[in-house]
Amino acid sequence: TSPPLGSTQGQGIHIVITAGPTREPLDPVRYLSNHSSGKMGFALAEAAVASGARVTLIAGPVNLPTPAGVTRLDVESAVQMLDTAESLMDTCDIFIGCAAVADYRAESPAEHKIKKQDHQPELTLRLIKNPDIIATLAARPDSPVMVGFAAETRNVVAYAQDKLKRKGLDMIVANDVSAEQMQQGLGFGGDRNAATLIWRQGEDILTQDEPAQDKIQLASKVISQALKCLEL
Ligand code: CTP
Ligand code: CA
Repeated sequence: TSPPLGSTQGQGIHIVITAGPTREPLDPVRYLSNHSSGKMGFALAEAAVASGARVTLIAGPVNLPTPAGVTRLDVESAVQMLDTAESLMDTCDIFIGCAAVADYRAESPAEHKIKKQDHQPELTLRLIKNPDIIATLAARPDSPVMVGFAAETRNVVAYAQDKLKRKGLDMIVANDVSAEQMQQGLGFGGDRNAATLIWRQGEDILTQDEPAQDKIQLASKVISQALKCLEL
């Protein structure tokens, strides 16, 4: 288990965190998105500040106050989120991708409001894949310590380990978002979360189970482990 997060462990370190959903336009008044509240990402930003780090939070559309001491950059779409993250890579030591990035966007958002008279009785939307933000950043030659999140409804740790390898990450936080967990108020939207931290140590992959706890407590443990990964 990790010692409590000191207030100087992160000194001199720049941590960039993405949080919340992305919003992908269909037309000027409609979008595709998801139910991410942004709470976990904002808790991470708060814990990162508490570690003494400089913190930049790239936030999708959420309804949350900016934690004290955090530089917040608001974005809407996945492409905007990637562009903003790329612009920060020069100085970034640890990148934490906590955002629930929309996997797809409309291939060609309508310039004007889609009218239902024009589409009776069916409307087909053509979607294309968004860039994978964290995998794109991890593939850079100068990439920082990369921390991802994986929300899964089954085979949680196995799927998360697969994402760790596939995306070239140093660490991943696996969340069980199955119906049983959600019924206990864990995962999306709530104030508490359970997780398994998974990280690389040389050739090995280590795991640490974290029981249900406040998102802010869990966030401190994630920041603490990410700072250790930076030293490895
Ligand atoms: N992620 C990202 N860019 C995307 C999709 C996901 O950076 N376009 C990041 C998330 O921020 C998270 C990690 O990848 O840190 C895992 O996200 P997840 O949705 O679980 O993974 P996917 O690869 O999208 O797989 P799937 O949704 O099919 O399970
Ligand atoms: Ca996804």
